[in-house]
Amino acid sequence: MQKTPVYPVIVSMGNDIQDKSGEIISDSPDFTIEVGRALGMGARAGDVFALFGDLGTGKTIIAKGIALGLGIADEITSPTFTMLEIYENTPPLYHFDLYRIDRTEEFGMLGFEEYWYGDGVSVIEWAERAGDLLPPGAVKIQLFHLDENRRRIIIEHPAH
Ligand SMILES: Nc1ncnc2c1ncn2[C@@H]1O[C@H](COP(=O)(O)OP(=O)(O)O)[C@@H](O)[C@H]1O
Ligand SMILES: [Mg+2]
Repeated sequence: MQKTPVYPVIVSMGNDIQDKSGEIISDSPDFTIEVGRALGMGARAGDVFALFGDLGTGKTIIAKGIALGLGIADEITSPTFTMLEIYENTPPLYHFDLYRIDRTEEFGMLGFEEYWYGDGVSVIEWAERAGDLLPPGAVKIQLFHLDENRRRIIIEHPAH
C-alpha cells in the first residue's frame, strides 16, 4: 500500500533537497525535523551542514532531523559547553555548537577542522563563528524566525 506523504512539500522536492538550493517555509518543529531527515538520509561521509540563524530558530531541531536521517535516534541537544558531541554511527555524526566562540583565531586552535574534513557527517550550529575556516563544500542552511511556529529555511548547496 502506498504510504500517504505527511509532508508533501518535502516529498515533492524528492531527491532535489540533496543537491538543489531552495527555500522552505516550515510551520512546525515536526516539519523542520522532516527537512533535516531528508537531508540526513542523503548525507554521505564527509558532508558538512553549516547552520546559520539566531537563538531559537530551529538549528538543533534540524540537527535532530539530520541525525534521524542518518539512523541516529538518540536525543540531540546543543553541545553548548563541549562544543562537539560525537554520535557513533556509520557514518559518525559530529554535532558542533560554536556559540561560545567569539574569535576566529581562538577557533583555529581547537582542531575542529580535522572532523570537518574527516569521514563523518558534520552539523555545525552557529557556523558563522567559524568564519573563513568553514569548508567550502559545506551545505549552508539559514534559518529565520517568522512567527511563533514558522521558520524560513534557506538551503544552499555549494555547487549552485
Ligand atoms: N517551524 C519550526 N521549526 C523549528 N522550531 C520551531 C518551529 N516552530 C517553533 N519552533 C520552536 O523553536 C525552538 C527552536 O529551538 P532550537 O532548535 O533549540 O533552536 P536553536 O538551536 O536554533 O537555538 C523550539 O522550541 C521549537 O519548538
Ligand atoms: Mg541549538
